[in-house]
Amino acid sequence: MSLHINAKPGDIAETILLPGDPLRAKFIAEKFLNHSQCFNEVRGMYGYTGFYKGKRVSVMGSGMGQASLGIYVNELIDDYRVKNIIRVGSCGSYQKEVNVRDIILAQSASTDAAHNKKIFKSMDFAPCANFNLLLKAHNYAQENNIAIKVGNILSSDTFYDYNQESWKLWADFGILAVEMESNLLYSIAALKKVNALSILTVSDSLVTGESTSAQERQCDFIQMMDIGLNI
Ligand code: HPA
Repeated sequence: MSLHINAKPGDIAETILLPGDPLRAKFIAEKFLNHSQCFNEVRGMYGYTGFYKGKRVSVMGSGMGQASLGIYVNELIDDYRVKNIIRVGSCGSYQKEVNVRDIILAQSASTDAAHNKKIFKSMDFAPCANFNLLLKAHNYAQENNIAIKVGNILSSDTFYDYNQESWKLWADFGILAVEMESNLLYSIAALKKVNALSILTVSDSLVTGESTSAQERQCDFIQMMDIGLNI
């Protein structure tokens, strides 16, 4: 096992879906996977491996925020040889054209966090999605009439921002939406030469103040998981 994952070598598939919420990982395994087996319960961060359309795939929670996701992604790659990581999560809209329930493919991820500053000092690194996964997701969505938006997002380290206006700067630069994980996911994937993509459903809007109910979110998430599983 690794420090935070109680799985044996080979228990985890090369491709993994990574929702933030471990209960959503359980939901995906129970609803979509055949013959799924739980490989992790440490800290309640459930992980399962099963089969989707005959292909072996895993699903596991990442927790909320880049600090939590970073722990699991490092161990999944270094200790379990995971090669494709697809985050399926929620985000808050920064643009009036991006509505609640829309699906976003995060082409790139900006951040207000300092993890890459520690490495690159005064220089910038631009973390981006794996093009092959992005293209596959785009094509699958088009073929199945699923409306998607593709662009840059913000991975913030704070959910409750006491500067109520700060999001507007990011919005001016075309950032579609905010979440809390993808910048570090894409950065680790780049360094360790694995493939990553974040597929996000808009659960709330900072522009209109609208948000979706828990029940609505369940249905919207199913469409996003459909894309994630099929690519
Ligand atoms: N902020 C950060 N992460 C989020 C949000 C938000 O408004 N909505 C969904 N994930």
